[in-house]
Amino acid sequence: MAKKGNEAPGKGFSEQLLRWDREQNRRQMPWKGEKDPYKIWLSEIILQQTRVEHGVSYYNEFVRNFPDIKKLANASEEKIFKLWEGLGYYSRCRNLIATARSIALERNGVFPKTYEEIVTLKGVGPYTAAAISSFAFNLPYAVVDGNVFRVLARIFGIDTPTDSTEGKKYFAQLANELIDKKKAGAYNQAIMDFGAMICKPVPHCDQCVFNKSCYALLNKKINELPVKEKKISIKKRWFYYLLIEHNNQLAIRQRTAKDIWQQLYEFPMIENTQDLEQDGILARAEKQNWFIRGKYEVVTQSPVYKQQLSHQLIAGKFIHIRVKNKPAQADWQWVNETGLGKFAFPRVINQFLQKAREQSLF
Ligand code: ADE
Repeated sequence: MAKKGNEAPGKGFSEQLLRWDREQNRRQMPWKGEKDPYKIWLSEIILQQTRVEHGVSYYNEFVRNFPDIKKLANASEEKIFKLWEGLGYYSRCRNLIATARSIALERNGVFPKTYEEIVTLKGVGPYTAAAISSFAFNLPYAVVDGNVFRVLARIFGIDTPTDSTEGKKYFAQLANELIDKKKAGAYNQAIMDFGAMICKPVPHCDQCVFNKSCYALLNKKINELPVKEKKISIKKRWFYYLLIEHNNQLAIRQRTAKDIWQQLYEFPMIENTQDLEQDGILARAEKQNWFIRGKYEVVTQSPVYKQQLSHQLIAGKFIHIRVKNKPAQADWQWVNETGLGKFAFPRVINQFLQKAREQSLF
């Protein structure tokens, strides 16, 4: 691999990147060129763990519903979560609400203008702070994310693992040396676009303006760079949702624990680390007084619905039960079929509900 720290590794890099951006980059996104820090912040929070194609309609809807930060700050949590539904990683939504409210309240709705202040906002890390401060205020902070790791590791031949302390420091330092300090916003957007359009995991080297000098291409290391140290392990969780029906209403509850999907709604659920037989599920539900033995009927049990998260695989099954006596559970709400539409649910539940509606199960 190329030696780290060789002199001026990126001479000409930013000029070439910005020329590619001017002459060849056709990527369009609604937040591109935006100068309002509120809208930039909104787009960056949405894009933190979401693909651009998926995030665009959410961004447009948020801007339409909340054209400025005060409108967002004054909206109900229920409405904001409903608009966020389907984007996943709901802690982003909680932080979005907290930050909007603190800026509205403590700064009269004026978004902070320095990197140091921006990076202290809830839900904003160094990447997002660099993006916001460079796009909105042209401050010279380089973005460093998966795209940037890939572009720099390949072009400059860097094999330090991107998830190691040393690697993170090294890539951040290099990125901040390479950035065009006078055109920081344009540079950051260009490197993101270049990683997304050209230097993709499977790259378009034939269209690449660096294909005469790219270390990885010249040394047949495209598939080896960038390097990661750790493999992520995926935990499997079985969620058995009980659709407990009484008088044409279903019980739902809000998830409050510090876990995935905090603040979203769900049907009362039994969790297990392995697949369980129906009898075992019902016995556990009875034990919690969700219904009384002999005083209910099982209507249907669904097939498995799966939802893949970054570190977990959720397998969900839905058991529809009709009860004679209404269970008294303090944290349950009873809603009819149309009432369900007001609440935000995890994708695995919405997928089931969509199928159930298509098949007129309700
Ligand atoms: N990912 C994060 N921020 C982005 C942006 N501004 N444009 C494209 N992809 C992004």
